[in-house]
Amino acid sequence: MSDATLAAAGTNAVEPGALEHGDLLAHDAVPAALISMRDIWKSYQMGAEELHALQGVSFDVQRGEYVAIIGPSGSGKSTLMNLIGCLDTPSKGRYWINGKLVSAMEDDELARIRNKEIGFVFQTFNLLARATALHNVELPLIYAGISASDRRERAKRSLTAVELSDRMTHRPNELSGGQRQRVAIARALVNTPSLLLADEPTGALDSHTSVEIMNLFERLHADGNTIIVVTHEHDIAARAHRIIHIRDGNIEKDEKIK
Ligand SMILES: Nc1ncnc2c1ncn2[C@@H]1O[C@H](COP(=O)(O)OP(=O)(O)O)[C@@H](O)[C@H]1O
Ligand SMILES: [Mg+2]
Repeated sequence: MSDATLAAAGTNAVEPGALEHGDLLAHDAVPAALISMRDIWKSYQMGAEELHALQGVSFDVQRGEYVAIIGPSGSGKSTLMNLIGCLDTPSKGRYWINGKLVSAMEDDELARIRNKEIGFVFQTFNLLARATALHNVELPLIYAGISASDRRERAKRSLTAVELSDRMTHRPNELSGGQRQRVAIARALVNTPSLLLADEPTGALDSHTSVEIMNLFERLHADGNTIIVVTHEHDIAARAHRIIHIRDGNIEKDEKIK
């Protein structure tokens, strides 16, 4: 065969990548899933070396799913969580959230998506120390430009949903660890985001309180929330309905467990 024939044969053949990426690359359709990641890479230049923290990660998360992302230290969990949460952009690949292509967005657009679509829960709660529980929960609504009376009402409702209606005027140092995390969860939910994204949410809690928080996640999932929990603990991951295992920047296993 001549080179030209080979080249022509090549254009007719289905590329392995195209098969793997399915309709997205073939038709450039907007995915229906809440989250769609396609061949996501995150690389860091370390002197002369390039370090690939994520190496071509692809997965979807449907609305209403409860997913755990688990992996050992250094496997790329935080890097992936920062991308899912629109706190960072990939070096390569495409990422849609709620049908919007976020991988190519600029910082101000990303900030808007973040405020609208994502509720964050962190290991160390990240509450304002001098503000009451109620004020902490109101904060995302201030950024969203909601009126004061509306804010107060919604913050109260959100705190009641995590069973803290009797602690609204307490400051973080007047609350237990579990109560602080519940304030953070109320804050994450007050904007009715599309996705609740939690990074090691029980990492700073004792085992009894951890169980309480995981029970709360289960209830929030039953109420229709989409949840992604990043963890290195197997018993926390086992509470989810699907576990994505990552290792060395790749998805090693993606299993439905419930
Ligand atoms: N800003 C950065 N610059 C350079 N390397 C980084 C940076 N962030 C993470 N890494 C590297 O990427 C890999 C994955 O890190 P990370 O996502 O934090 O892992 P995990 O959260 O699973 O412990 C690690 O090898 C880490 O050293
Ligand atoms: Mg991490």
